[in-house]
Amino acid sequence: MKNADSLTGITTSGTPHLGNYVGAIRPAVESSKNKALTSYYFLADYHSIIKNNDPKLRRQSALEIAAAWIALGLDYENCIFYRQSDIPEIPELTWILTCVTAKGLMNRAHAYKASVAENEEAGNKDPDKGITMGLFSYPILMAADILMFNARKVPVGKDQVQHLEMTRDIAARFNHIYKKLFILPEVVVDESSAVLSGLDGRKMSKSYNNTIPLFDTQKQLRKLIMKIKTNSLGPDEPKDPSTCTLFAIYKAFASEDQTKAMEERYNQGIAWGTMKQELFEYINEILEEPRQKYNELIQNPGDIDTILMQGAQKAREFSVPFLEKIRKTIGIRSLG
Ligand code: TRP
Repeated sequence: MKNADSLTGITTSGTPHLGNYVGAIRPAVESSKNKALTSYYFLADYHSIIKNNDPKLRRQSALEIAAAWIALGLDYENCIFYRQSDIPEIPELTWILTCVTAKGLMNRAHAYKASVAENEEAGNKDPDKGITMGLFSYPILMAADILMFNARKVPVGKDQVQHLEMTRDIAARFNHIYKKLFILPEVVVDESSAVLSGLDGRKMSKSYNNTIPLFDTQKQLRKLIMKIKTNSLGPDEPKDPSTCTLFAIYKAFASEDQTKAMEERYNQGIAWGTMKQELFEYINEILEEPRQKYNELIQNPGDIDTILMQGAQKAREFSVPFLEKIRKTIGIRSLG
């Protein structure tokens, strides 16, 4: 197996929603089909332990996310799709990297600093109150995810850019101390992939509780779309598409021509009720087939496991010998 041309992880928390689809799943599904690239996609379930202590929730979320990616067309035969926890070499590499990582580097991590700031604002005497070593060293686990497969490119959201800088730092430190084994990965932030607005007009995000889940029932999908916030303009009045959440969602799915035609209808005045109904019908048609596939998969979690285990097997064709090389390099094993 080849090292990763491209690798990205999906934290298994929450239920996949339309914003995830447009921002992360759709571009990944596209590139998973590229025969010229070796792409790795994995469920970052060890990362999910950091924030959530509920085993049932974690299992459910991993199941839903894996099912969603498969149902939406991830080419899991062509790419390598696996679960982080099925690759025991990753936690082992995490420890090795931990031992070359400056504590000061981790002190500067945004997520850790935000938690400290929260404690300070709350007037807590201990600035580290409630902060686990898992949260503190999260970036090292992420570095191990990436370096384990010597990934060249890592597509992520803007909030992950610092973690990629840290990964490069850690890799360079290892290369300097021992031997040049690691490629310094490049971060790829796809500015063109759409950021979707949610029910209240803010960015669609589970932390705002304003999401439209991808695979709710048709009835529920309609209900949520009907709830999207609009203004009080009357049915015949011209409306501004550029500030409209309904339009933004439509645009994220529609072709350029369809988008232009819809813009025209806004200018002429389209009733909110009509637009909502049309948006529902449009999105529902796109999701109908994947929804069916998703429901089948959720009822047959063994099939998902099989796909993930096959992915892990492919991934370990790279990680097992590479970790062996890393161990030799640092003088662990091979006493003979
Ligand atoms: N931390 C990433 C996120 O929250 C998920 C992730 C874990 C990841 N390991 C990774 C992304 C490795 C890219 C590469 O989005």
